Amino acid sequence: MPLSGRWTLTRYLIEERRRYPGASGDFNALILDVALACKAIARIVAFGPLADALGTALPEASAVGGEVNVQGEVQKPLDVLSNEIFVRMNEWNGHLAGMASEEMAQPAQIPPSYQRGKYLLVFDPLDGSSNIDVNVSVGSIFSILRAPEDVIASGRDVTESDFLQPGATQMAAGYAIYGPTTMLVLSVGNGVAGFTLNPNLGEFVLSHPNIQIPADTTEFAINTSNSRFWEPPVKRYVDECLAGKTGPRGKDFNMRWVASMVADVHRILCRGGVFLYPWDAREPDKPGKLRLMYEANPMAFLIEQAGGAATNGRQRILDLMPAKLHERVSVILGSKNEVERATAYHLEADGKTAS
Ligand code: AHG
Ligand code: MN
Ligand code: MN
Repeated sequence: MPLSGRWTLTRYLIEERRRYPGASGDFNALILDVALACKAIARIVAFGPLADALGTALPEASAVGGEVNVQGEVQKPLDVLSNEIFVRMNEWNGHLAGMASEEMAQPAQIPPSYQRGKYLLVFDPLDGSSNIDVNVSVGSIFSILRAPEDVIASGRDVTESDFLQPGATQMAAGYAIYGPTTMLVLSVGNGVAGFTLNPNLGEFVLSHPNIQIPADTTEFAINTSNSRFWEPPVKRYVDECLAGKTGPRGKDFNMRWVASMVADVHRILCRGGVFLYPWDAREPDKPGKLRLMYEANPMAFLIEQAGGAATNGRQRILDLMPAKLHERVSVILGSKNEVERATAYHLEADGKTAS
């Protein structure tokens, strides 16, 4: 068991790599570049409305112009800048075959002046961006996939279909949270480790080794303002939580909703809980609000690696085969027994299990 507080992210990665004696170190180098991008974003976020004082050339709001991204959401200057930081800090290192982001309609190609590598980087550069203006925690979410063999062999441009792999194939996933402290929470497929940024050293230092989510919880997270649009099994699950001690659950529940997925998932990794962003009838044609490739998959990977569960109400998220890069999905994740219960309610409503 590593000594928490004395291992940097670099040391953690080196010790993890010992499990693969033949490994080149490319994977670790890539994660360190992702971590550097997160540190750069953390600095800018920390300056808040004073960010211009950094000379970081925050894109003018007017230059971004309230532009709408491929998700149909208005981009904020920090969404655009964070995306730019992710791309610039990772395109040069020779480890990537391509990148994809919530903020880019098409995958980003590695420019011809740089070498191409064997990994794909997928990210939500700034998650929870509605919270930026009110000084509430935001974050970045990332996922690392292996590029298809023909991409690696040929070094050709990547296409959307190269990214369409089930989440179970992720090589690594993680997020940075820009809160009272900046943290990086990471899984390279061998449990989950949390690192706190030491602002004096500029280093991520292991502070939360081997994060485990308790199987039971009395805390749930859902945006209840959408309740009239929910499916009956979601309504049933939440109603039973709200009924507390006097209801079928026989215990009181507490509720939290930060509206930054990173912050809600981080709380669940720290002390358990269940998070739901289910499909709802506001936009019936969309399978959900959250994005499969750069929100649901990386978070589901972390949650499972920490002993929790993640489904879309019917199937394990990590088993879903994405049909498109910007696919949306219904999400239920967190403490295993609660996720299983909410999932069972969906299957029961579908007539797939006995009640
Ligand atoms: P993003 O800022 O990357 O678009 O993501 C916001 C997401 C997620 O972080 C959060 O859980 C959810 O949107 C909040 O949605 P509501 O405002 O509908 O509650
Ligand atoms: Mn997001
Ligand atoms: Mn975002």
